[in-house]
Amino acid sequence: MANHSNGSSKDSFTIPEIKFTKLFINGQFVDSFSGKTFETIDPRSGEVIAKMAEGDVEDVNLAVKAAREAFDHGKWPRMSGYERGRLMMKFADLIEEHIEELAALDSIDAGKLLTMGKIVDIPSCIHLLRYYAGAADKIHGNTLKVAGEYQGYSLKEPIGVVGHITPWNYPSTMFFLKVSPALAAGCTMIVKPAEQTPLSALFYAHLAKQAGIPDGVLNVVNGFGSTAGAALSSHMDVDKISFTGSPEVGRLIMEAAAKSNLKTVSLELGGKSPLIIFDDADVDMAVNLARLAIFFNKGEICVAGSRVYVQEGIYDEFVKKAVASAKSWVVGDPFDPQVQQGPQVNKTQFERVLRYIEHGKREGATLLTGGKPCGEKGYYIEPTIFADVKEDMLIAQDEIFGPVMSLMKFKTIEEAIERANCTRYGLAAGIVTKDLNIANRVSRSIRAGTIWVNCYFAFDPDCPFGGYKMSGFGRDQGLDAMEKYLQVKSVITPIYSSPWL
Ligand code: NAI
Ligand code: MG
Repeated sequence: MANHSNGSSKDSFTIPEIKFTKLFINGQFVDSFSGKTFETIDPRSGEVIAKMAEGDVEDVNLAVKAAREAFDHGKWPRMSGYERGRLMMKFADLIEEHIEELAALDSIDAGKLLTMGKIVDIPSCIHLLRYYAGAADKIHGNTLKVAGEYQGYSLKEPIGVVGHITPWNYPSTMFFLKVSPALAAGCTMIVKPAEQTPLSALFYAHLAKQAGIPDGVLNVVNGFGSTAGAALSSHMDVDKISFTGSPEVGRLIMEAAAKSNLKTVSLELGGKSPLIIFDDADVDMAVNLARLAIFFNKGEICVAGSRVYVQEGIYDEFVKKAVASAKSWVVGDPFDPQVQQGPQVNKTQFERVLRYIEHGKREGATLLTGGKPCGEKGYYIEPTIFADVKEDMLIAQDEIFGPVMSLMKFKTIEEAIERANCTRYGLAAGIVTKDLNIANRVSRSIRAGTIWVNCYFAFDPDCPFGGYKMSGFGRDQGLDAMEKYLQVKSVITPIYSSPWL
């Protein structure tokens, strides 16, 4: 069994105070129209953290009305990009003052490691905001070469009111992946955070107001997908939905957009990413990368390296070391700095992952280590490794979203490419080799939106991020993400009596 740290008493770590539980509409914290609330749960124990205002159709209508007014008549889309950028910089500075508290909110809500929140998640939000703040005054069109007695230019204008529907695995980063470029573009917006992790988004709304972002520009409506989420994606006054989550819900959002006002949609729908390790790799380094790629954030990560392909020459050594390294991975309370893996986000996900593990055993994969819940309470699962996995098994096809590695042996480069592409997803891939020719060839042959060579999870706001195939379309990060929130207008005027025509 994996190392389970027992330091899980609630009192031994700093638990954040919950300051915001209402909806944030038009610059105010308000109760839901129905007065209903829902519980957000601490996955370390299954206990209730707080009761949250539960938004539904009426609340989404109010939030969209506020965002529409702020877009159609407000200052935000009309102020200079420089001014928008300046307010976004202020917003980022305020987040920087609250890193510890914000990281703690995501830890208690989602079971995420506090240490990682402080050094990765929240700093990445600040970085995203500052990156796009710097882009806000660099949005420009082109001069158009128009034949005949005309001249033309193009303008890039904000797309309008945006609905962001986000998942629970990176509550803060997902918020800023979506909100930052949309703010820079001059859009107004409604965020519908995942119902499993409603806490930190409200804190960000509060800080946005403090930074001077006008009322109505950034609204947060917590609530469930089939009610608040569906109301947003079918709303006639919403111009765009930006979504990260499951393929099933991605389809529903496209359907809702098609049946309402044909709003544009961008979708990031997860993956089943291969990590391909070649014979020339340093085996210890490859084992560390493979462990990180699937067990980091307890496997609840859309780019998790869930299918590990190892070339036959180093396979046996790799398996031995990978099993030992999974056994030494410390599972326990995410507030404990010694711990490397916290609990799965909730009971539903915990049971879902365990069902996949049982399915893997029935399908004939060999369970090398893990496979069981651990700890006395809460939603902890042992780091799990299956060997002898085949591409047609469910555990090799479905996104498990848990700490479950599938190991596969291969002989040739051609075989590795063919098998790595044998998935309906295409979000990311990793390659471990010292051979530049192999790295180049495989990078170009894998159908996925991000390729990491001799590294994994190397993210940066400047690297466009998104899917091929059923992992979705549209890019978060990079200047590409700005394009999702902008639309192009051509302006053409006649030129009379020009001596040059
Ligand atoms: P989900 O797709 O149901 O949830 C994501 C967001 O969509 C949440 O905010 C949810 O409230 C909203 N939503 C749900 N139904 C909706 C609807 N009808 N209309 C509009 N919005 C709606 O994902 P869930 O059920 O939480 O997780 C299931 C699986 O999905 C995971 O095990 C994982 O495989 C995948 N997933 C992938 C993520 C990624 O990063 N691409 C993130 C979260 C989940
Ligand atoms: Mg929760």
